[in-house]
Amino acid sequence: DKAGHKHFMAKEIAEQPLVISEALSHYIDAEAGRITLGADIDFTKIGRFTMVACGTAYLACLTAKYWFEQLAGMPVEVDIASEYRYRQPPVTPGTAALFVSQSGETADTLAALRYCEGKADRIFSVVNVPESSIARESDVALPILAGVEIGVASTKAFTCQLTVLFLMALEAAHQRGRMSDDELADMISSLRNLPSVLNTALEVEGTIKSAAQRLSQAKDVLFLGRGMMYPLAHEGALKLKEISYIHAEAYASGELKHGPIALIDEHMPVVVMAPKDALFDKTVSNMQEVMARGGKVMLITDQAGADTARDGIWQEIVMPTVRDALTPILYAIPAQLLAYHTAVAKGTDVDQPRNLAKSVTVE
Ligand code: F6R
Repeated sequence: DKAGHKHFMAKEIAEQPLVISEALSHYIDAEAGRITLGADIDFTKIGRFTMVACGTAYLACLTAKYWFEQLAGMPVEVDIASEYRYRQPPVTPGTAALFVSQSGETADTLAALRYCEGKADRIFSVVNVPESSIARESDVALPILAGVEIGVASTKAFTCQLTVLFLMALEAAHQRGRMSDDELADMISSLRNLPSVLNTALEVEGTIKSAAQRLSQAKDVLFLGRGMMYPLAHEGALKLKEISYIHAEAYASGELKHGPIALIDEHMPVVVMAPKDALFDKTVSNMQEVMARGGKVMLITDQAGADTARDGIWQEIVMPTVRDALTPILYAIPAQLLAYHTAVAKGTDVDQPRNLAKSVTVE
């Protein structure tokens, strides 16, 4: 049932404020002002995390690395499951392994988990399907509560994965004495407001539709982002490739000069994801380097960012303003909508893109 939407993907994008708010109610004890992960997790005993996943779930891990490092001061390594399992990396004492998977059945992720059995101190998973193999074989399985996801391109599972990983990072920061009770309460209240911010973000759909018309003419698209927007740039590129079949690549903005700038011309739009945070000015200089070479910039930013950096921009997409730590969850929305409307403009099969399967149970 597409609930009046043209595609399951559209329905699942639109559902995000609701499912995220359900996940938040599940994991937040509002009265006590605490996070309740539903398992006994002592983050002070964990020396470091090794996070392993595939595809979009891998990008959720890459994002979580910023949160765990910056908020909780915990070292995090992130690996692609198919690389991790065959590289046979040493798992040293103090390491907790964390596997993220919507289906909980992805063959490479499951094999990576089995490799960690008996080596990692503890095995965590963040899954959408609680009965899945990955959930069953981990010590602690945290459900993301996104509900069934039918569109092959993952949308609501990604933002629910981010939500649960963020909650874990907050709890870790609090337990490890890096976040006071008041700071935690303040974060929790921003989080509880997030679903309504996401609803506002969904209202940019009109602007994104016209932006997507322009993007649908391109053969190649470059996505740029810094800091927490770097994994999001990858997510934008992945979604666009998957459903519109337009070749897209993502780079850390600071890498532009180290190669990809050679590609810049008027035919390859550059999508820059950059809220006005501490790194914004750096990204603006990268944008200027692109424009100076005739490149077309599509800037996804907030009002303050748009007011500062509007000159010469090909297309601007303005998001609501949220605290820096929450930008990855918010900026997933324009990344998804852009891919979706570009695919619709091209007339491709959005819910069943060619060559792809929802669950990759063979390697
Ligand atoms: C992208 C997408 C895939 C999956 C990947 C992992 O839109 O859906 O990249 O994220 O195949 O799948 P799970 O999360 O089921 O392990």
